[in-house]
Amino acid sequence: KKVAVLYGGRSSERDVSLRTGQGCADALRERGHDVTLIDVDLEVAARLRAARADVAFVALHGRWGEDGSIQGLLESMGIPYTGSGVLASALGMDKVFSKLLFREHGLKVIEYRVFPREQAERITVADLPFGLPAVVKPAGEGSSVGVHIVRDAQALQAACRDAARYKGELIVERYVKGTEVDVAVLDGKALGAIEIVPSREFYDYTAKYTPGATQYFYPARLPEEHARRTCEAAEQAHLVLGCAGVTRADFIVSADGVPYILEVNTLPGMTATSLVPKIAAGLGITFAELCERLLDGAAL
Ligand code: DAL
Ligand code: MG
Repeated sequence: KKVAVLYGGRSSERDVSLRTGQGCADALRERGHDVTLIDVDLEVAARLRAARADVAFVALHGRWGEDGSIQGLLESMGIPYTGSGVLASALGMDKVFSKLLFREHGLKVIEYRVFPREQAERITVADLPFGLPAVVKPAGEGSSVGVHIVRDAQALQAACRDAARYKGELIVERYVKGTEVDVAVLDGKALGAIEIVPSREFYDYTAKYTPGATQYFYPARLPEEHARRTCEAAEQAHLVLGCAGVTRADFIVSADGVPYILEVNTLPGMTATSLVPKIAAGLGITFAELCERLLDGAAL
């Protein structure tokens, strides 16, 4: 097949996407496909037309790639593409809307407040019924860009100011002590849960992409019942957002086994240090096979 791998782009996760895209392109070539890499810029429509691809393999992260924008363009151009559609992508990228849906469907969501970013300078501890520590996040970024754990009033102010640099609302969540556990879901079925133990305060951008900065345990060292509950929650989260292809649901699992869902990534990282390839490998699915599976699922 003639495949256009869409990567790079203009989001804050451009560098991650360059690595995801290069890896996927290499794997697809190894499988015998005719691959064109397209770095997504403002001329993407013209580049797609010129490539005359049968299918687009979306390897973008963040805005304009994971949020339904590029999916809308591909729909309009009649080019089948991998992964989730327009609505699921938009919902998955927006932590405010995804939380509403998760809660509506009985998933455990950490207590939170939403603030317009124009209000960022005026958010105080008094606005947080759950107090401190808390976690400040921009609603529409990935890879923990703009995310801060705050333990005092001064840090809260600085974190809100930083998170307000990104588009969309601000979310402030109660800080829940627990273990980060991420679950890969392929075509609606959980592949497995991986446990994340960063050497830094939390699994931030540096912890995610610096080899050796984080320890991974796969399968997660959870009691079987807790692991099962977490995997079921991941499948449900994939379903309620209407996702397709591979997703990764991220959780904080409390000591008593409650899987608090943080979010669903509709275009999870596929770099050398990324989790979905690690989980797939544990099941004997090679990276190339995983890419082929995603390609097979491409649709309009
Ligand atoms: N947003 C990054 C790419 C991830 O979830 O893996
Ligand atoms: Mg994310």
